[in-house]
Amino acid sequence: CGIVGYIGTQTATDILVSGLERLEYRGYDSAGVATVLEGKLHCVRAKGKLYNLREKLEREVNPSQIGIGHTRWATHGKPEEHNAHPHRDSQQRVAVVQNGIIENHQELREELIDQGVEFASETDTEVIPHLIAQYLPETPGYDDFLIAVQKTIHRLKGSFAIAVLCADCPDELIVVRNQAPLIIGFGQGEFFCASDVTALVPHTHAVLSMENGEIARLTPLGVEIYDFSLNRLRKLPRTLDWTATTVEKQGFRHFMLKEIYEQPSVVRSCLETYLQPNWHAQTNADISPIDLGLASELCENVDYIQIVACGTSWNASMVGKYLLEQLAGIPTMVQYASEFRYAPAPMLPNTLTIGVTQSGETADTLAALEMEKQRKMGLESPYDARILGITNRPESTLAHMVDRIINTQAGIEIGVAATKSFTAQLMGFYFLALELAYRRKNLALDKLEGLIKGLRELPAQIELILEKQGQQIEELAHEFADTQDFIFLGRGINFPIALEGALKLKEISYIHAEGYPAGEMKHGPIALLDAKVPVVAIAMPGLVHDKVLSNAQEAKARDARLIGVTSIDDSEARSTFDDLLFVPHVDELLSPIIAVVPLQLLAYHIAARRGLDVDQPRNLAKSVTVE
Ligand code: G6P
Repeated sequence: CGIVGYIGTQTATDILVSGLERLEYRGYDSAGVATVLEGKLHCVRAKGKLYNLREKLEREVNPSQIGIGHTRWATHGKPEEHNAHPHRDSQQRVAVVQNGIIENHQELREELIDQGVEFASETDTEVIPHLIAQYLPETPGYDDFLIAVQKTIHRLKGSFAIAVLCADCPDELIVVRNQAPLIIGFGQGEFFCASDVTALVPHTHAVLSMENGEIARLTPLGVEIYDFSLNRLRKLPRTLDWTATTVEKQGFRHFMLKEIYEQPSVVRSCLETYLQPNWHAQTNADISPIDLGLASELCENVDYIQIVACGTSWNASMVGKYLLEQLAGIPTMVQYASEFRYAPAPMLPNTLTIGVTQSGETADTLAALEMEKQRKMGLESPYDARILGITNRPESTLAHMVDRIINTQAGIEIGVAATKSFTAQLMGFYFLALELAYRRKNLALDKLEGLIKGLRELPAQIELILEKQGQQIEELAHEFADTQDFIFLGRGINFPIALEGALKLKEISYIHAEGYPAGEMKHGPIALLDAKVPVVAIAMPGLVHDKVLSNAQEAKARDARLIGVTSIDDSEARSTFDDLLFVPHVDELLSPIIAVVPLQLLAYHIAARRGLDVDQPRNLAKSVTVE
């Protein structure tokens, strides 16, 4: 979900709706805004996407200069208007928007119902306005609203960020952060709050990321920050170096397509940031070719690595595992953050934990890392909790909670289906694995030099795929607009790319797709194959190329249409594959970055052909801040 708030001199609903537009990627099954007008709360909500709300708002004139807004990703209660935020108390004095989960809402709801309170929704959020209203005197004095919110927070369990309006206090907006992101924006005589800086960039570059356990009061005169005991805190905003165009489509039909095409420049920026220019194995053997700025305490004496992540970041971590094991020689486990939390692996000595998340806000990942910190708290080496983050959002919650991040240089990604953030995470893993390999002397320097040379060639090679293959893949995609199932096969370092190809396709086209290690197909998925189930095989030259080709033959023998992603255009490839997605030739270790690009394009064009909302696929959200 996403929340926004505004207090100042402009028309609040305009600012709120444009802010929600920029947050819509966080959830889009209903939306709403509340303002205070002539001493009364005014609330407008609509089911479905934001344009439904915008249409409703266009029917009225509302000059209010204070308001809160919300775009929802349903957790408790169906996506219906009565469950849309803002929620209000029975007297309509208090309105609340919330992002997160109130874990003890059932207990609070029962308590309130016993006191005669009537509920209008099934959401966990609605308990909040009822509670605040109970703590609010008939005619509230200056601090009473703030105190009522503070008392309420002490009753709530869970992770949440809230913004609250009160009809009796038309010059105050109160916001709270407790384990869910919230940023305050500072303008000239106007102040903003939002779940993500993307909603603030058009208005101001002076921002303050609230910390957990903080309450802020926004008035036309300024912003006051308090802790949960209402001790005043002194904080200063920082300046963002973003421009509003970062979050615009710039002529592309969808953000996803724009972000696919941004990949060469993202990779280039990674190379410029982390590689030593002009490094040669022979002349510079005593300095590392890579500079991630990692302190030696973080990356020396590492016997094991454990990675926690979700979704696409988990797939990137699987490539990371391959690199860390094969290049740096460090045994690596990749865990789904949501699983790790309730079944953590036994503690191993000298372990580096890595959290990988593009948003830096995924609740499961943050909670898994927090849990890891807690269980190792007070323990000395070898059971120390060293945590490294890999993210493209250096201002995120993840960045605040770990010892160090690798900023993957992808910038913000708006399309819900991750593309450039994925390739950038892969780059992060290349640098990390090569840096560790260098420090541990686990890789011959000429091999290291060869890989670095290969990395430097990637931007131009990705550009070539986008230029040469874009059209062909679009045409091919049209043939699959009515397909119902897809299988993606890959082996070795490209097995996770098969997973990622399948994930991209199902996320945005709603076609059922499975990614499988090619050698495992014969143990199950082969039963699904017939002429109606296309099989995409990633057959990049290298160690497992011939094996993948034989596995592909097994599919062909079951009448499946075979699509090959390969850099070899020979008679064998032509006779094996019905369709070829050619990519430039690279070292097998670098091939995931190259192989994923045609799969992203294939998924994109199939979904676009099906007329689907590529950037905001149903039921998904870009950053899932609930567990
Ligand atoms: C959501 C997004 C996915 C993403 C996953 C993990 O489900 O829709 O695209 O891969 O979260 O997000 P993270 O921000 O932690 O990488």
